Amino acid sequence: MMAMRSFRHRMGGFARGTPKVGKMTRIAEMKTISTMKILIALIGCVVCGFVGQAQTAATRTKEHPLPRIVEKDGRYALLVDGAPFLMLGAQSNNSSDWPGTLDKVWPAIEYLHANTLETPIYWEQFEPDPGKFDYSQVDLILAQARAHHAHLVLLWFGTWKNGSQHYMPEWMKLKPEIYTHVTNKNGELVDSPSPFAAAALEADKRAFTAFMKHLKEADGERTVLMVQVENETGTWGAMRDYSPEAEKLFAGPVPAEVLKATGKTDAGPNWRNVFGTEADVNFHAWAVAKYVGEIAAAGKAVYPLPLYVNAALRDPFKGAPGTYESGGPTDNVLSIWKAEAPAIDVLAPDIYSPDTASYLKVLHLYHRADNPLFVPETAGSPRTLARFLFSTLGLQAIGYSPFGLDYTRTPPAHQGENDSPNSFLDATAQNYKLIGPMMRDVARWNFEGKLQATAEVEGEPTQTLHFGAWDAVISYGGGRGGTAKGNAEPVGRALVAQLKENQFLVAGYFCRVDFRPAGTEAERKAGQVVNGSGQTPSAQIDGKWVHRQFLKVEEGTYENEQFKFVRILNGDQTDWGLGLGAEPDVLRVSVATY
Ligand code: DGJ
Repeated sequence: MMAMRSFRHRMGGFARGTPKVGKMTRIAEMKTISTMKILIALIGCVVCGFVGQAQTAATRTKEHPLPRIVEKDGRYALLVDGAPFLMLGAQSNNSSDWPGTLDKVWPAIEYLHANTLETPIYWEQFEPDPGKFDYSQVDLILAQARAHHAHLVLLWFGTWKNGSQHYMPEWMKLKPEIYTHVTNKNGELVDSPSPFAAAALEADKRAFTAFMKHLKEADGERTVLMVQVENETGTWGAMRDYSPEAEKLFAGPVPAEVLKATGKTDAGPNWRNVFGTEADVNFHAWAVAKYVGEIAAAGKAVYPLPLYVNAALRDPFKGAPGTYESGGPTDNVLSIWKAEAPAIDVLAPDIYSPDTASYLKVLHLYHRADNPLFVPETAGSPRTLARFLFSTLGLQAIGYSPFGLDYTRTPPAHQGENDSPNSFLDATAQNYKLIGPMMRDVARWNFEGKLQATAEVEGEPTQTLHFGAWDAVISYGGGRGGTAKGNAEPVGRALVAQLKENQFLVAGYFCRVDFRPAGTEAERKAGQVVNGSGQTPSAQIDGKWVHRQFLKVEEGTYENEQFKFVRILNGDQTDWGLGLGAEPDVLRVSVATY
């Protein structure tokens, strides 16, 4: 164990070092290291196997309680080992979870400082013949994750994968008359499974249940935190199924739970009558959610891990029916999914839009009183998008995980960027290097409502976070005394946690943070607070000037989940506010007024 830990430190150091080594050398090194780690872990497993055979599943379960999602005062936490946990994840590429490719995955997880790997379990691999289950890949990924001290989120690539049935086993694909496809308006079969295919539903339920049962038996350590049921369910190329069976249901009444969920009082004789132009997409969402809900409930009955589904999104501002993959948990049908698939704990957005307004809108749409925010996929790790991790944290997210971050496919570096083999990982690695060591605190502060976080928005050089008697003012692109103009590229991000009434923890990149007296709530409401504009943040409260002074600004690092003091900042380092640059800086700040 000790050897593995010190290795992890070395690996972190190596990964963060100057990228002078050639790509092949680096990957070869990573491979060797990865293989060594797995060998050590396997030897460990054998030894533990002999020594610990007497350890029962019951004792293991006692040591590692089941991960679960809890809610308090409208805020959520994922409890892992009994305490709030923040999944700082990375999703592998689709075809990476094979014995021959995993050594291209783990070095990326190490480099990123990710604590969770999201990776698929393929139905076609898991059930090569009807009713015969192959657990080898599940067991391999469990062993490797443990060897790398990482958690897993396993993605059940079952009936649906990106709207298609491509991961159904061969024996199913060869019988489309039994495992039927969606029929479009013209009566043609499309590349999408029908949610009315009873045989497919039964087969998926049986396979998913076998998978969950095996996880229960094999994972007393709770390496797996959550399971994703299916992947981007729904259909491209048809708004719904138009098969005779579907047509009959569409011409019938809307089920009571859907009416309730959508707030419709007029029951009407059929779907079109109740929902008008939204009828087709609502009908398909109902059918798909019902199908997936049944599978999820069956799996959860054998092993009650948190379950979620992910959505291929529609445009959050103008997603008209027919312009997106319908049937999945898009923002317009979240209530239908909640009603129809109660065994699913989280409806989660896959956010690929590079547009700031759309990205933030989606986060708000999925951050609901009845839904914890979790971003299980987002566009790789481009320099300007990684900042949205902070927007996500600002909405109490339980996890975040960019897609495709492994070495099975190294996308070319962005134009004009250093051509290093890791440029596609760097922005996320920078985030996780800062947040990783403090993730337990971040998760706890979020659950307790003490944390706020934000990312730079183009054209908005200053943002204000409100903490009772103090405002935290975040500015971007301003130098000493210079007016904030925004960074040349929007890369700024910050988080602020209120530790005590007058003490805050501040962390982030490429911004300046300061604190301004905000008066009491009553004074604010009565309009008695007027912000000043001098170098030292001040406000006129009820006619009197009140200024901020720093009592103490401690710079530190997070080690073993504890803030570790390094030095006191003062003078040039605090006279113009607290500047955060490209290094992972953590500050503990005590303020007072005069
Ligand atoms: C979203 C899907 O959920 C992923 O599995 C993957 O296909 C990405 N799109 C893009 O490659």
